[in-house]
Amino acid sequence: MPPADAAGAVDSGAVGTGAGDVGAVGAGTVGAGAVDVELVGVSVRYGSAKAPVTAVEDVSVTVAPGEFVVLVGPSGCGKTTLLRLVAGFERPAAGTVRVHRKAGVVFQQPRLFPWRTVAGNLGFALARHGVPRAARAARTEELLALVGLPGMGGRRTWELSGGQQQRVAIARALAAEPQVLLMDEPFAALDALTRERLQEEVRTLAAVTGTTVVFVTHSAEEAVLLGSRVLVMAAGPGRVVEELAVPLPRGPGVDVAALRGSARFASLRADLARATREAAA
Ligand SMILES: Nc1ncnc2c1ncn2[C@@H]1O[C@H](COP(=O)(O)OP(=O)(O)O)[C@@H](O)[C@H]1O
Ligand SMILES: [Mg+2]
Repeated sequence: MPPADAAGAVDSGAVGTGAGDVGAVGAGTVGAGAVDVELVGVSVRYGSAKAPVTAVEDVSVTVAPGEFVVLVGPSGCGKTTLLRLVAGFERPAAGTVRVHRKAGVVFQQPRLFPWRTVAGNLGFALARHGVPRAARAARTEELLALVGLPGMGGRRTWELSGGQQQRVAIARALAAEPQVLLMDEPFAALDALTRERLQEEVRTLAAVTGTTVVFVTHSAEEAVLLGSRVLVMAAGPGRVVEELAVPLPRGPGVDVAALRGSARFASLRADLARATREAAA
């Protein structure tokens, strides 16, 4: 696991590769056919040379700007490993990883600094990303408003509910203004009501800001609600076995509650549940 202060954002640039092909990338302008994340024939192995464990094998995934890609699959199929690859926390044993724009990460646990206030946590992230001291208070308030916690900067993190802490973690990731947000089961530890609320907020946030998102879950419901595209993974070794487009309306005007209750939603969720079952068989 990375240290807590690595949890904010990663200037991925080009991540080194095992196979020698290194992408030369920078901030990158976004145009037609642009790509934010490119994994080509990527394999990851853990363990020793004598007893290697292949966590993912020969995975190729391309994510375009503004896409909301969800990874689903059983425990141990390599979802976290793929996200860590994109974040630059792992290196592939084979294949190429290219991340063309700045990535920010949100984990399952918020991992805030308990000795800092909410504003202190965000200020620390802003400082790390070069925001001048004079601009930090205003930017902190903007971030808090964005995640539904206006005026909460003075609170201690331990005074917050789990859902509020996770909102702060999302705000912290957004502090670096990432164009690509990587989220590893960020709502798994939350109660159902808080989870639904945050799902809606992230869905809207992504649509409004145009942020590219790669999101891990093992909930078919969550995958269909959030994803514009869902990749189904299988274990032993981890690989992508199926891809599902989710042609549901997105954007701030969408009635998400109505969407959840629609026949179209139910049918997509059933398709995904079937694909996931087949992948696990
Ligand atoms: N640091 C590690 N050392 C050894 N094996 C690991 C490590 N991290 C993950 N693995 C193994 O790699 C596989 C994929 O793990 P992971 O990416 O965490 O899956 P998921 O997130 O889908 O549950 C699993 O078999 C897991 O046991
Ligand atoms: Mg995982």
